Amino acid sequence: TFVVTENCIKCKYTDCVEVCPVDCFHEGPNFLVIDPEECIDCTLCEPECPIEAIYPEDDLPAGQESFIRLNAELSLQWPVITQRKDAPPDADDWDGKENKLDLLER
Ligand code: SF4
Ligand code: F3S
Repeated sequence: TFVVTENCIKCKYTDCVEVCPVDCFHEGPNFLVIDPEECIDCTLCEPECPIEAIYPEDDLPAGQESFIRLNAELSLQWPVITQRKDAPPDADDWDGKENKLDLLER
């Protein structure tokens, strides 16, 4: 399965959602997650993210392992998103910032 990682928090560009053939992206206030039960490993979303926040679960950057569980957990609570929407106005300022997990809204 593919996993949305920390860099998506407060960026949330949503380019990823339109290419998913099985609609497995779910949207929270400032982050998106992938439902691991629905993802078919098609790989289409990975290159769509302009800030490279999406990875296969077996090739996660160091320190991002907790996002496997977080995607599974939050996808059960958040609604599906299938249409791109505007990113937050300050999204560009948050690309690459550290410790964004502390800013995750549920
Ligand atoms: Fe959807 Fe494919 Fe990305 Fe999985 S890999 S989340 S099926 S676009
Ligand atoms: Fe997040 Fe990238 Fe999608 S910032 S919403 S994973 S396009």
